Amino acid sequence: MGLDRRPARVAISYRPPRHAELAECALVWHSAVDDYMARLNRPLPSPYLDPLLTLLEHLLGTDPERFLVAVRPAVAGSAHGRDKVVGFGIAAQREHVWFLSQLYVLPEEQGHGIGRALLTQILPSLPAGQANAQRPEGGRTQSLALDERDVADHRPGILAMCTDSAQPVSNGLYARFGIVPRVPVLNLVGTPNPSALSRLPVGVGAEPFGRSDTSATLDSIDRTVLGYAHPADHGLLRASGRTGFVYRSDDGQAIGYGYSSEAGRFGPVALLDPTLTAPVLGHLMHVIRPRGATSAWVPGSNDRAMVALLRAGLRIEGFPALLCWTRPFAHFEGYLPASLALL
Ligand SMILES: CC(C)(COP(=O)(O)OP(=O)(O)OC[C@H]1O[C@@H](n2cnc3c(N)ncnc32)[C@H](O)[C@@H]1OP(=O)(O)O)[C@@H](O)C(=O)NCCC(=O)NCCS
Repeated sequence: MGLDRRPARVAISYRPPRHAELAECALVWHSAVDDYMARLNRPLPSPYLDPLLTLLEHLLGTDPERFLVAVRPAVAGSAHGRDKVVGFGIAAQREHVWFLSQLYVLPEEQGHGIGRALLTQILPSLPAGQANAQRPEGGRTQSLALDERDVADHRPGILAMCTDSAQPVSNGLYARFGIVPRVPVLNLVGTPNPSALSRLPVGVGAEPFGRSDTSATLDSIDRTVLGYAHPADHGLLRASGRTGFVYRSDDGQAIGYGYSSEAGRFGPVALLDPTLTAPVLGHLMHVIRPRGATSAWVPGSNDRAMVALLRAGLRIEGFPALLCWTRPFAHFEGYLPASLALL
């Protein structure tokens, strides 16, 4: 099915955001999520947008060419005289992995092709000769000469994202491009009891970040466990109050790293040896005491983290998210993501 079956209601323009429009993007996020969560009897609390604004600013810095807003252009002589942001999309390109961080459209504008038009314009470019297959025209997509899955196969690298399992629209939209839900990610929340978990084994030491230059070490662990290095995102984590440790065996070899925060966020945790998951989580709980409840996003493949966090007293909250990809790229049995918006 192409988008041309539905007439465009009004002209929508697609362009990079102005810095002053980031707050509008954050409000679009809140309206879009609140709209479907309210229908599930789980409305969002009133907007606290600072963490999202920090993320949007970070991504505007690292991926300006993959950040687009859909705007209803200002009408000359109108009272407002400025464009209205009705949707936005942003992806993070990290080495060969393209990760969709955000795609949101205002509820009253949904179902008219804006989400798809944003997505097709921030996807990695198609190789020459296939570019006509998905060129959006006025917010619509021309007839698709190629099957979308074939087109996904021809895009360079890997396409990935996290979706909400309660949202068929986004799951259906992305799966058309081969970005299919593969692994559930559960949100575990609560006040952890670290004594429930075993201590770090003899011969494994924890070195706080900052004692030495760990950037090459983190890059190497990330490439092995997550599939790509993302040093700029580590910078964001530290600037947002997460504290991290590198774990080393007694011969000095780095075997993983982990972050937690007093504000109550676990992750990311990346371990070359997943059997160390429970003691590493226990160590993080011991040394970084959250002020209140703490929360972690746990991929279903990381069974050791799931068991450890449940044993430590955390409980499953809400609906699972779904990790979606065109081709596998990470060893999620050894990884806990930082968030669903930036792994
Ligand atoms: C998801 C979202 C960004 C999509 O934007 P949109 O402008 O509404 O989407 P579009 O009109 O461009 O396309 C929606 C597509 O989903 C498809 N779709 C809708 N319901 C579906 C279902 N139950 N199964 C499969 N596909 C479905 C539609 O058929 C359409 O594809 P098509 O045009 O090829 O037929 C928007 O609806 C939104 O903001 N939703 C709430 C927040 C959200 O879930 N964001 C995604 C976070 S991962």
